[in-house]
Amino acid sequence: MPKIILSGKGGSGKSTLTSLLSQTLAAEGKRTLVVDTDESNRTLDKMLNMSSAEMGLLDYLGGREEFKANMGKDSKNLSSNNRITLDMLPEKIVSWKGNLGLLSVGKIQQVSEGCACPMGATARKFLNQLTVTEDEWVIVDTEAGVEHFGRGLLEGADKVVMVIEPSNESVTLAERIKEFAEEKDKPFVVVLNKIGDKQEKILTEKLEDKGIRIGGILKQSEGIALNNLMGETIDSSEFTETVNEILRTLV
Ligand SMILES: Nc1ncnc2c1ncn2[C@@H]1O[C@H](COP(=O)(O)OP(=O)(O)O)[C@@H](O)[C@H]1O
Ligand SMILES: [Mg+2]
Repeated sequence: MPKIILSGKGGSGKSTLTSLLSQTLAAEGKRTLVVDTDESNRTLDKMLNMSSAEMGLLDYLGGREEFKANMGKDSKNLSSNNRITLDMLPEKIVSWKGNLGLLSVGKIQQVSEGCACPMGATARKFLNQLTVTEDEWVIVDTEAGVEHFGRGLLEGADKVVMVIEPSNESVTLAERIKEFAEEKDKPFVVVLNKIGDKQEKILTEKLEDKGIRIGGILKQSEGIALNNLMGETIDSSEFTETVNEILRTLV
């Protein structure tokens, strides 16, 4: 099954949708790996009601120093010829809860530690090499904006889902991301999120005008917002139907 990148502006609902999709897939018996490539956010584990693994992928591969020393070369654990399957991932870097796995590429830990480029490059390589079976899914949660595209993350993905909240900025960003996806021949679909009744019609028309395909519409939900505020697991029951509809467009 596909490796999917979730993109969108900050706060649009990428991590929320990551949680909704991955929890639903896992509950349906599909082995699903969530790859957290957002080097700042630290709450995805809470949203999924999971604990984080012992270490991030970059640290497992030797951290920034090792990355710098090997710049341009393949690290021995992640050489570009190696195929990586879910079974090969060491316990240290993936926490599993039933069918659902959570892997983080790495977080910025210290003031002035440097840019997030090593994390981006590591994520790109990893995604490129990761190979899944027909029944397995990979959902990649990203940082805000388009930097992950600049870092080449798209190469290893099969599809791009962009989360759009009701703002003109999101629509403009959608045009940009659609172009990136098309350039790399990756199917592109958007999910509208935090939508109120009046906004739905306006947004749908704007996107249809631009030839952008809508895979699903998630309403503004007080329950979801409260889950977040309270640091609780995201309760997907309210959106079961829409989430299944989105998943069908991704198969
Ligand atoms: N459908 C929704 N209804 C209400 N609040 C939502 C919805 N989707 C996301 N949110 C809230 O919006 C905020 C940002 O969501 P998040 O998933 O963290 O965004 P991102 O990962 O894109 O930065 C959170 O407080 C979250 O609870
Ligand atoms: Mg997020």
